[in-house]
Amino acid sequence: MSASPAPTSPAPTTADDPCPATGEWHRLDPAELPAEGRVHTAVVDGRSVALARCGGRLSALENRCPHQGGPLGEGSIENGWLRCPWHGYDYDPATGRPPAGFTDAAVAYEVDERPDASYVKLPPPRPEVRTVSDVLVETLVAWGVRHVFGMVGHSNLGFADALRRAEARGDLAYVGIRHEGAASFAASAYGKLTGRPAVCFAIAGPGSTNLLTGLYDARLDGAPVIAISGQVPSKVLGRGALLLATGAFNLTMWVLGALFALFGFLSSIKATTERATEAWLRRSKARRLRRQAAATLPSGPALAGAVAQG
Ligand code: FES
Repeated sequence: MSASPAPTSPAPTTADDPCPATGEWHRLDPAELPAEGRVHTAVVDGRSVALARCGGRLSALENRCPHQGGPLGEGSIENGWLRCPWHGYDYDPATGRPPAGFTDAAVAYEVDERPDASYVKLPPPRPEVRTVSDVLVETLVAWGVRHVFGMVGHSNLGFADALRRAEARGDLAYVGIRHEGAASFAASAYGKLTGRPAVCFAIAGPGSTNLLTGLYDARLDGAPVIAISGQVPSKVLGRGALLLATGAFNLTMWVLGALFALFGFLSSIKATTERATEAWLRRSKARRLRRQAAATLPSGPALAGAVAQG
């Protein structure tokens, strides 16, 4: 899409634009304003906005690519287009429209550069809807989870949003980490020290494989840890999509699964052997006591008592 001619749309607000007609004006922090030819993510009224300056003009788009939700504010200005950092789709930074031949448009917001400051007009906030991720987080809280360690990314954004809402309600605490291995080790350590379950989470594919060492630590020490992994949409499962668990990942999981199973099998043999040995010792002791009693007591009816153990 880089060969598209530069956009020429004059104004963002037309009848067929997704630019909202109603809303409130919000003052932009001067430190957030991008330089010429740059795009920048700003948080306005608690919402993420992609601010761009192109041809001297300041513009604002919802910081969500219509393709798969990429952060447009982390993109770049290329030949007058705002290019999404994820898959390179282009949008007019002023109107959000795509180049000719494409249909998806980003949501554009009205911008007003006044003498005192620059303002952006945002629509009324969308009413919050309870999602599957909310139910997942509520279930974790009901299980006693109070701490979650993890890294937010493309494939777990819904879960991260549900965590944010739960944290705002005071239900749990989220601890951000910089490597997924730190999340699983932190959750494992938390479980060992408190006996309570903790959650670690990561994005799909390589993010989840990075959890494995800490999870193995939890497995060896019997720490209660719940690991949650992002995943690609079900419609692209099995098609080699970005971050889909690869053959190498599956092989790694298979080998680790086999190791876990072997470890569990050996542990169960050891436990069974120990139980059998204890039972044999108890029976031997009981036989010896019966022989001693038979040698000292007169023959006849006898009452035998037993104490159940375990
Ligand atoms: S998410 Fe923006 S191009 Fe795919």
